[in-house]
Amino acid sequence: MSNQQTKMEDIISLAKRRGFVYQGSEIYGGEAGLYDFGPYGVELLNNIKKSWWANNVYQKENFVGIDSAMFKHPKVWEASGHVGGFSDPLAECKNCQTRIRVDKELGAIGVVADEKMSEQELNELFNANRTKIKCPKCGKMDFSDVKAFNLLVKTNLGDFTGKEERPVYLPGEACQGIYLNFKNIVDTTRMRIPFGVAQIGKAFRNEISPRNFLFRTREFEQADTQYFIKPNENKEAYEQIKEDRWQWYLDLGINESSLRWHQHENLVFYAKDAWDIEYNYPSLGWDEVEGVHDRTDYDLKQHMEFSGTDLTYTDPISQEKYLPWVLETSMGMGRIFLAVLSEAYTEEDMGNGQTRTLLKLKPELAPVKYAVFPLLKNKPELVQKAREVFNELSKNNICEWDDNGNIGKRYRRQDEIGTPNCVVIDFDTLEDDTVTVRDRDTTKQTRVKITEL
Ligand code: GAP
Repeated sequence: MSNQQTKMEDIISLAKRRGFVYQGSEIYGGEAGLYDFGPYGVELLNNIKKSWWANNVYQKENFVGIDSAMFKHPKVWEASGHVGGFSDPLAECKNCQTRIRVDKELGAIGVVADEKMSEQELNELFNANRTKIKCPKCGKMDFSDVKAFNLLVKTNLGDFTGKEERPVYLPGEACQGIYLNFKNIVDTTRMRIPFGVAQIGKAFRNEISPRNFLFRTREFEQADTQYFIKPNENKEAYEQIKEDRWQWYLDLGINESSLRWHQHENLVFYAKDAWDIEYNYPSLGWDEVEGVHDRTDYDLKQHMEFSGTDLTYTDPISQEKYLPWVLETSMGMGRIFLAVLSEAYTEEDMGNGQTRTLLKLKPELAPVKYAVFPLLKNKPELVQKAREVFNELSKNNICEWDDNGNIGKRYRRQDEIGTPNCVVIDFDTLEDDTVTVRDRDTTKQTRVKITEL
């Protein structure tokens, strides 16, 4: 079954049923746009992160990683442009109070609202098209004026008066921590331009309509790289970055036919050029997993101005001084997690009127690497031998022990969480130290020596 025959609801159901993803604060009735990763989910998430980190830090000579604090000086978000310009244009239905994203509704009728439009310009465009836009909930066409709704999440670190005289924001995008540390990295490491900095960090956005499971949430992680280059040396580097990022998706096991590039016509305030890698999500269709942006010297210039700290770079050989440009890659961890699950989710006809559900994950991504089964749980000699095998394998791999139910049912449980190999210890094992290894994808069973596992 291809990923386009799979339905998003099947993936959500498996993710919940098998402990990959839970609704946030579920016992309180749940909270929109928030999810928790369960025991298998966190392993899969960490394995994706490990692959990304290896690809973007260890395998690149001129890249280093950092982990910056989430709370930042309040001026950071003014300098970055998020306090003033990071907003969704919303209008409210006067009948049922449902809020609509005006840019999206206009887009749906073929009218392009530019990211850089003022509130007044948006209102003019909206007014000219009001008669074509219906409330998605009640169907009425009576809306308030358009208002820009800021997406930053405000909090009150160190504000003991509750008056918010010095508002602090949760990160609207994770990458700002990298710009703040550009000078530190140049001063304390041997990194010289061109060089890149990688980080996986949390971002928070007051999304008006979080939707589609992990796709649009209010709290999420971003895996970012920022590549610092000499001004105007962006063309070749940009193409190389795009090529590298595309290859990583293929290495992760994503089918090339499920991926495509999309260039932005409407640019976000910090970008001069922007391309998205889109994945063809089941039930949702093509949408963004990752953005690749040419941010020029926008961010360093802003931080230099707002902080008063000189961020110009001096080339150690030519002594040339300049403010570097930045090429960014920014991938949502929830979105890549969902793409990996969608790609791996398979329902297979067993030929006997039964189907089995399996996750065809690449072994390095699978939450559990080996499941170890004693054939019978009431035979102490089998259990003891199986324990020995389990203890040995689990020194270097995440393993799962299962002695419950018939072998077929145990296989099904492991198939659903994507375990590549199940190891069965039976009476022959006691004689010759061999075990049966059953392959998840082919269901083929082979007999191997324990030492060969
Ligand atoms: N620093 C650049 C930046 O933040 P972005 O396009 O706003 O750019 C980058 O976000 C990535 O973060 C997106 O490609 C997407 O994968 C992810 N992302 C953005 N908003 C999200 C949301 N509300 N929920 C889940 N992921 C989101």
